[in-house]
Amino acid sequence: MDLFDKCRNFTDARQAQAAGIYPYFVPLEESEGTEVVINGRRVIMIGSNNYLGLTTHPRVRKAAMDAIARYGTSCTGSRFLNGTLVLHQELERRLAAFVGKEAALVFSTGYQTNLGTISCLVGRGDVVITDKEDHASIVDGCQMALGQTKRFPHNDLKTLERHLQAVSPGAGALVVVDGVFSMGGDIAPLPEIVALCRRYGARLMVDDAHGLGVMGPSGRGTAAHFGLTDQVDLIMGTFSKSFASLGGFIAADEDVIHYVQHHARSLIFSASMPPSNTAAVLAALDVMETEPEHVQRLWANGEYMRAKLTEMGFNTGASQTPIIPLIIGEDIPTFLAWKALFEAGVYTNAVVSPGVPPGTSRLRTSYMATHTREQLDRVLAVLGEVGQAMGLIGPGAGASQMSTSFSFASHL
Ligand SMILES: Cc1ncc(COP(=O)(O)O)c(C=O)c1O
Repeated sequence: MDLFDKCRNFTDARQAQAAGIYPYFVPLEESEGTEVVINGRRVIMIGSNNYLGLTTHPRVRKAAMDAIARYGTSCTGSRFLNGTLVLHQELERRLAAFVGKEAALVFSTGYQTNLGTISCLVGRGDVVITDKEDHASIVDGCQMALGQTKRFPHNDLKTLERHLQAVSPGAGALVVVDGVFSMGGDIAPLPEIVALCRRYGARLMVDDAHGLGVMGPSGRGTAAHFGLTDQVDLIMGTFSKSFASLGGFIAADEDVIHYVQHHARSLIFSASMPPSNTAAVLAALDVMETEPEHVQRLWANGEYMRAKLTEMGFNTGASQTPIIPLIIGEDIPTFLAWKALFEAGVYTNAVVSPGVPPGTSRLRTSYMATHTREQLDRVLAVLGEVGQAMGLIGPGAGASQMSTSFSFASHL
């Protein structure tokens, strides 16, 4: 048995590539946010997480460039030993104040934030309980943790309660949910989850990667949206979405952050956020705090698209935010629809299992504050034509489902 047999036997991606319907690792030649150039063709982007459009905001761009001029391009080391800049500490103070917590800690990615935080807090004998649609970085953080992991079907609070009841009195319990679910665009029922955590003495962590910049006043997140900031013990965020940068953070009481800072392996054994990324987040925070129009425009665009797409007959699932999935079902029709839209000038994300539950493959669409009404109307016209041609909407919708599924990152 050769270790590499699995590599030679992995043919799913090659088959999709040979069929010309492979929708991943597509190289962008240019990007101005709402439009990108691929293979020399300009297409409208409705597949990014750049919700507020701040990657091209003049203040954010300038802050990143100024930081390179002042500090160079990299910290070349971990926060722990030699990679902490005053900029990181300033960002931590600003983020803690933004989300309403005592302290915050900045990691180099959101993925590392979840990995490090969950794995260091959930020790041997403890229990971590997660929603089955939580992000992969939460799943991986639980795998690294020494405690036991329990999962409940998406938003199934009865099963969550059963898991909480089963926690033995000597064990600590952590519940982890996404604030806004990345592939469905639905919002976690935090009031009910908070009540359960209180009743059973569990701590609650909310991954607000898609809620920050989107939900609550000035985009302060899902806990702020529900007025529950004090009841959510740990608020996690990433900078790779509304914050227009790269990195992540965890915010909580000061003693919890102090502990995570000295125990999270993904923080201690990995190089810190580069100065330009850190300065970009600080500038994005300034923009969020002083220019509320971006969040308003994001919601106006999202509401406009959800109303139109639902009216046209697309299955948008339980979406409540500017993330609007078009649920198709099987993988091949999803790839074919992705390709047809791409050829017609619209870039979406094709998402299959394990990104979403099997049988719910979808095109994930997401809207930005900076999309113009003209761009959105063009997207609607293309979606209408392709949706009709492929039987996704209109008479006979859903009739021609082919049941071939692909496997990527399938160990999850
Ligand atoms: C819900 C959620 N959590 C965590 C992450 C990881 O964030 P990052 O891209 O900063 O690693 C993502 C990004 O894909 C996400 O969607």
